[in-house]
Amino acid sequence: MTRPIAIVTGASSGIGSVYADRLAARGHDLIMVARDPERLRNAANKLTERYAVSTTPLSLDLSRHSDLDILLKRIREEENIELLVNSAGIAPSGSVLDSSEEVLDQVVHLNVNVLHALTVAAAKTFVAKGAGAIINIASVVALMPESFNGSYAAGKAFVLSLTQALDAELRPKGVRIQAVMPGFTKTEIFKRAGLDSSVIPAGMMMDAGQMVDAALSGFDAGELVTIPSLGNEGLWKALNDARHDLGPHLSLDRPAARYLGSANRYDLVPPN
Ligand SMILES: NC(=O)c1ccc[n+]([C@@H]2O[C@H](COP(=O)([O-])OP(=O)(O)OC[C@H]3O[C@@H](n4cnc5c(N)ncnc54)[C@H](OP(=O)(O)O)[C@@H]3O)[C@@H](O)[C@H]2O)c1
Repeated sequence: MTRPIAIVTGASSGIGSVYADRLAARGHDLIMVARDPERLRNAANKLTERYAVSTTPLSLDLSRHSDLDILLKRIREEENIELLVNSAGIAPSGSVLDSSEEVLDQVVHLNVNVLHALTVAAAKTFVAKGAGAIINIASVVALMPESFNGSYAAGKAFVLSLTQALDAELRPKGVRIQAVMPGFTKTEIFKRAGLDSSVIPAGMMMDAGQMVDAALSGFDAGELVTIPSLGNEGLWKALNDARHDLGPHLSLDRPAARYLGSANRYDLVPPN
C-alpha cells in the first residue's frame, strides 16, 4: 500500500520533531531532514515503531548547496510526496549590532534562502501533480520586528509574505500553503543560540506539542495564516483588512500632497 509522504525539515528537534510525530500518527510516511545523523536515525526509528510508517532519515546540512540540491531533487522526482514542512531554522543570540555578520548571514541563508528554494520546488512539483501542501514555520516576530533581532524578524516576514503571495497562485490549482506563526515555543532553539530562555515569562512560552496541534487544526480548517496563541481572530482580520484598504492608495501617478515642495504645488492647480 502506498502512503502519502511528508518531508519535514528540522525533524530531529522541537517543532519539526512534533510535526514528524503528528504526521506519522496521521498515516504519512516521512522523509526526515536534519544534520545530526544519529539523532535523526533514533527519532525516525521511534516513529516507525510507534506508528508502523516508513521513515527515511536524511542527514543533510541544508545550508550547503550540494546538500540542498539532494533534497530539491527528491522533491522534484519522488512520487507520493504530498506535504513539505519547512521547520529547519536557527536564531541569533543578540541584536543585529551585537551579532557577527557571519551569524546573521547563516540565519538569513537557512531561514530565508533555503526555505525559499524548497518552497518553490515543492510549489512547482505539486502544481504539476494538481495536489499537495506546504507548511512554512514563520514567527510572530514577522508582525513585531522591533521586538527581536532584525535579520531574524525580517526573514520571518519574508516567509509570511512568500506564503501569502503563493497562496494566490496555488489555491486555484489545488495546492495548499500555510504560514504558521508561533510565539515563544519550548524547544532547543534558545540553547542552541546561547539564549537564556528562563528570562521569558512562563505565560508567553507554549509547549511545542500544543503549538503544532493548534497549527494543524488551523491547517485542517483551511487557514492560510495560523497564529496559535491568538484568541481574538478579529485582531488579525483588522490588520489584514487595513492592509487591503491601503491597496488603492499605494501606486498612483503623483505623490501625496504633503510631499510636494512649494515649487511643485502649482501642479495641483487645475489649468484655466
Ligand atoms: N522555538 C521558538 O520559540 C520559535 C518561535 C517561532 C518560530 N520558530 C521557528 O520554528 C522553526 C523550528 O525551530 P525550533 O524552535 O523547533 O528549533 P530547534 O529545536 O533548534 O530545531 C531546529 C531543527 O532544525 C535542524 N537544523 C538546524 N540547522 C540545520 C541545517 N543547516 N540543515 C538542516 N537542518 C538544520 C536541527 O537539527 P540539526 O541541528 O541536527 O541540524 C533541528 O532539527 C525555526 O524556523 C524557528 O525559527 C521557533
